[in-house]
Amino acid sequence: MGSKKRRRRREERPTIHPKNKYSENPPDFALLASLYPSFEPFVFYSRDGRPRIDWTDFNATRELTRVLLLHDHGLNWWIPDGQLCPTVPNRSNYIHWIEDLLSSNIIPTTSRNGDKVKGFDIGTGANCIYPLLGASLLGWSFVGSDMTDVALEWAEKNVKSNPHISELIEIRKVDNSESTPSIQESLTGKSVQDESNMDMSGHMDEEAEPSSSSSFNLPAGAQSSYHGPPVLVGVVRDGEQFDFCICNPPFFESMEEAGLNPKTSCGGTPEEMVCSGGERAFITRIIEDSVALKQTFRWYTSMVGRKSNLKFLISKLRKVGVTIVKTTEFVQGQTCRWGLAWSFVPPARKIISPHVAEKKNLSFMLECTLINRSLYQMINVTQS
Ligand SMILES: C[S@@+](CC[C@H](N)C(=O)[O-])C[C@H]1O[C@@H](n2cnc3c(N)ncnc32)[C@H](O)[C@@H]1O
Repeated sequence: MGSKKRRRRREERPTIHPKNKYSENPPDFALLASLYPSFEPFVFYSRDGRPRIDWTDFNATRELTRVLLLHDHGLNWWIPDGQLCPTVPNRSNYIHWIEDLLSSNIIPTTSRNGDKVKGFDIGTGANCIYPLLGASLLGWSFVGSDMTDVALEWAEKNVKSNPHISELIEIRKVDNSESTPSIQESLTGKSVQDESNMDMSGHMDEEAEPSSSSSFNLPAGAQSSYHGPPVLVGVVRDGEQFDFCICNPPFFESMEEAGLNPKTSCGGTPEEMVCSGGERAFITRIIEDSVALKQTFRWYTSMVGRKSNLKFLISKLRKVGVTIVKTTEFVQGQTCRWGLAWSFVPPARKIISPHVAEKKNLSFMLECTLINRSLYQMINVTQS
């Protein structure tokens, strides 16, 4: 493909959910600086007169997140130095994608809890961003799990600093004292990654073309399975039901792999960024747990950082009897992440089988073609 064409495709690639607060009104740094004196020192003006911040300064990105959460969402928020700092528009996109999944009626709604939506945030982090956004934007309730002391302490602080939504959010400690084999491994000595002859029942509805083979060219070690603390099984309690789980997993196998993007500084400690086997192993564990928990969740979802991993994970889902798979693309400037969702609930309507499905995007992003430069900078942050 010619470079012109490629550039045009990239420029036209929509980037933000239409319901996202920032889709029409990107953050106005000059306004925020005039309203919040603590943000003002981080704003400077380029030669063309545009207000900017230094994305390589952790204090600047953290202060921006703080004032956006306060100004646009009425949320009090803070994280200690070095913890992963979320960008608000990006995280909001994932929340709105889940909102779309829940309202799509692809699978029937349950009358369990009236209209109340309950989510489970796997690895909520010190920033607790998904429960804070989901509760304040949409009134959803959450269990947010984590395993590090700093994440649990600060997630709790961030919840308590917001009494108007604190009733909606429970922070739950995951016991990290021992690593857990998957249920599959404890029963058979094999992980789901080793399975090759399980049949897929139901239908798939997906835009990503999964390979029927589960063998990919992987870097050494990438096939290793997850042996960390429990993820869902052992954390979800008997009798609990959730509408969805959400997860921004530890994407990498090592801090070297995580690398440091010299253009940005979003923090992120090894506990937040890294696990054995990286995202492939972590999300495979979510899949294994979902096989055990089945309809305890209406939708299981995770963010995926690499397209090769997305294909691999879809091929896993084909084998474990899910009724539906959905994917979307989250565009962050030059960087792509993917949303992966699946369910064991029988679909409410006929789904196109993968053999005849067009390779079409579920993505909400198609309507937005123009983005303001300051928002472009904001979403051009490569982050976990
Ligand atoms: C990439 S961070 C995501 C933080 C936050 N959700 C966000 O989007 O910015 C991953 C988080 O998962 C947590 N984590 C890792 N393994 C976990 C497990 N088995 N159960 C719960 N949390 C876990 C880490 O401590 C870290 O806070």
